[in-house]
Amino acid sequence: MKLTIEELRKNPLPEHIAIIMDGNGRWAKRQGLPRLAGHRIGVQALKNVVMAFDELNIKYLTVYAFSTENWKRPADEIDGLMELIVEFLDKEIDYLDAHGVCVHPIGDVSVLTGKARDKILAAYERTKENNNIIFNVALNYGGRQEIIRGIKQLCQDVQDNKCTIDEIDEKLFNQYLYTANQPDPDLLIRSSGELRISNFLLWQIAYTEMWVSDVMWPDFSKQDLWRAIYDYQNRERRYGGLGK
Ligand code: FPP
Repeated sequence: MKLTIEELRKNPLPEHIAIIMDGNGRWAKRQGLPRLAGHRIGVQALKNVVMAFDELNIKYLTVYAFSTENWKRPADEIDGLMELIVEFLDKEIDYLDAHGVCVHPIGDVSVLTGKARDKILAAYERTKENNNIIFNVALNYGGRQEIIRGIKQLCQDVQDNKCTIDEIDEKLFNQYLYTANQPDPDLLIRSSGELRISNFLLWQIAYTEMWVSDVMWPDFSKQDLWRAIYDYQNRERRYGGLGK
């Protein structure tokens, strides 16, 4: 079934969608191309998704661009990915800024290669007041690393008498995550058919609905995004309760 935007607008849209953009390497292999060619087309698929968010007025997008585990990949693939991030920001920053997109890095970007780190921080600096789309780009991100970082900062605040142990609850801890002040993802999409979380947003996805698509990320289209949203709209979220 081919979906239309009118069909999607009939029901409440998700506010926050997180995406694990998987399958770039396999896509490239199938085409007889180097892995980096898959990542390159993957960047275009990502741009299409950002445009689709703009069209639908979905405010929060979180994408897994580089995990804390991705350092295990060959150096030339890592360098290539960093270069693609630099190229993406060089090429798209004007578009992103003009469309009210806040480019918000999440993860420990301090250890990225100099150019990639500088570009992503400059992109954030330029777009941080934008409020149309909050585009969280997970770079050197790991869910466990994020939680440990939050715990350390929280312990420090307790030690500095900025809060007490009794005040610690889920709401307070949320403030110590990279996604502080943002709603949890309503929908998590993973492309390429893999059924794993891969250390992504471990805290935030407690009640997130999942959609796994068999499509490899470079082929992931607006219609694939719409299909995931349509499926989400037809689910009943019970949050551990009994529902209607
Ligand atoms: C997973 O595919 C994909 C990645 C590890 C990188 C995703 C990055 C991009 C799409 C581009 C960079 C992002 C920005 C923000 C410009 P894989 O290589 O694990 O695929 P495989 O499982 O088929 O090998």
